[in-house]
Amino acid sequence: MFASNRLSYRKLSRTDFGFYCQLFSDQEVMKYTYLEAFSSKEEARYAFEKALVIQEDENQGTQYIAALKGRETAIGIIDYEVLIENNLGGIYEIGYFIQKAYWGKGYATEMGKALIDFLFNNKNIHKVVASCHANNQHSEAIMKKLGMSQEGVFKLARYKKGSWVDEIKYGLLRQDWSEGQYKINCRK
Ligand SMILES: CC(C)(COP(=O)(O)OP(=O)(O)OC[C@H]1O[C@@H](n2cnc3c(N)ncnc32)[C@H](O)[C@@H]1OP(=O)(O)O)[C@@H](O)C(=O)NCCC(=O)NCCS
Repeated sequence: MFASNRLSYRKLSRTDFGFYCQLFSDQEVMKYTYLEAFSSKEEARYAFEKALVIQEDENQGTQYIAALKGRETAIGIIDYEVLIENNLGGIYEIGYFIQKAYWGKGYATEMGKALIDFLFNNKNIHKVVASCHANNQHSEAIMKKLGMSQEGVFKLARYKKGSWVDEIKYGLLRQDWSEGQYKINCRK
């Protein structure tokens, strides 16, 4: 468990199924993501059970529920996936998903910064990466705000809704990370 200005973060647990199902069944939330929105509760349940198993193995990755401090209302999920790791370092990929009602208030930037700080402070990794669908301008803006640098565009590397699209990759090396510095803008 860790925290940032407005949010606290705890590992996804069995009681979070309702929130998980609602978030990842929303077509707008899933518009640019790797996976499609869940089309049934059964599909969501299957993915949720798999996510809970992965949670048990820190060598694979972790999903955190981001909740408003005090009220403990869940607003989103932030996660990391272990891409590679050895005793000289490692590379983790992060991702973020927020309920529509909370978009445009700086939460994704706050969540991303909190997770990056948590990972560099607690894991022996040398790099954090993130990627997005080439049309996902908000996601790309967040990567820039997190101090990440663009490392390339992977041409037609992502399959989404019947076509192949470009994927943009960003990265942040430990040596370029500066803890705790970010600006929150509220649009709503
Ligand atoms: C992408 C997503 C996480 C952004 O969350 P958010 O909390 O709204 O993002 P922030 O408020 O931190 O905004 C970060 C930047 O995105 C851009 N942005 C966000 N909302 C915007 C809006 N309504 N209009 C214009 N730009 C916007 C801005 O550049 C903003 O920085 P700024 O406010 O300093 O200008 C959210 O829209 C979401 O969950 N989308 C669906 C899931 C997804 O695509 N995840 C990424 C997978 S790679």
